[in-house]
Amino acid sequence: MQSYICSPMNYIGGKYKLLPQLLPLFPKKIDTFVDMFCGGGNVGINVEANKLLLNDNLLYIVDLYKQFKSMTTTEIVNYVEQRIDDFKLSLTNTDGYLALRNAYNQERNPLDLFVLTAYSFNHQIRFNNNHQFNIPFGKNRSRYNANMKKNLELFVAKLHELDVEFSSSNFEELDLSELTSDDFVYCDPPYLITTGTYNDGKRGFTGWSHREEMKLLALLSELNRKGVRFALSNVLMHKGRNNAILKQWIEIHNFNVYHLNMDYQNSNYHSINSKSDITDEVLITNYVL
Ligand SMILES: C[S@@+](CC[C@H](N)C(=O)[O-])C[C@H]1O[C@@H](n2cnc3c(N)ncnc32)[C@H](O)[C@@H]1O
Repeated sequence: MQSYICSPMNYIGGKYKLLPQLLPLFPKKIDTFVDMFCGGGNVGINVEANKLLLNDNLLYIVDLYKQFKSMTTTEIVNYVEQRIDDFKLSLTNTDGYLALRNAYNQERNPLDLFVLTAYSFNHQIRFNNNHQFNIPFGKNRSRYNANMKKNLELFVAKLHELDVEFSSSNFEELDLSELTSDDFVYCDPPYLITTGTYNDGKRGFTGWSHREEMKLLALLSELNRKGVRFALSNVLMHKGRNNAILKQWIEIHNFNVYHLNMDYQNSNYHSINSKSDITDEVLITNYVL
């Protein structure tokens, strides 16, 4: 794992731990790499390509990346540490955390979102319907630490090196008309048969339902027709549920399916007890390596 950069945002569904399995399955030569559901940015930041497009409809995370790109690493780290000082953030200061949360919800300084996630419960990001950041304090659990600082510095440094564009579009509105067979689109959408905080449609952002699933599959079919390479992360089975739409689509198009090893997920907090615990995480591609 030494050579991969880990996003400083602890993102639900983040692909950092899967990178050693995912990246060897990507094409070797890429002109523009589109990370269509970039989330924590774990994939886009680690892919070798001439140009990178980071897109996510969670505009606040995209605003944060824009801010990372426009400031020096020292300025960013100084700002973060100053904010921690100003609000006296610690493992136990709930009031300080709530005061910063209020400030962020009023002023929307993108860097404050990063500071908040350093102290939020499980370092999570979530907004309510009014776009207010609403994760509670991670009392006695979450704080800005040396590891987070290291991840922040490496992530920002890499972002500065890259020829990167940012977009906060719904994937359906993203203009992909210029893409050619030299380009590559990676999709890591919310999974239809699992639950992330971003896919219930009650967070002020579009949720993920059959409608979105069908639209995305249609978009990928169209890219395939135009000779644009893509890879789609997903699960075919999770806790006894199957994604029948996805399976059928794969069969119709005869796309490639790589089954990934998710052991890392279970080793931390629970072991597989029954078949219903099995998650079949896959990467689906329309190209041969
Ligand atoms: C599984 S996460 C991506 C994680 C990312 N690959 C990583 O490694 O950090 C899925 C992302 O899709 C975004 N998303 C959900 N619906 C979307 C939509 N309609 N258009 C664009 N992005 C969307 C969510 O905000 C979330 O960040």
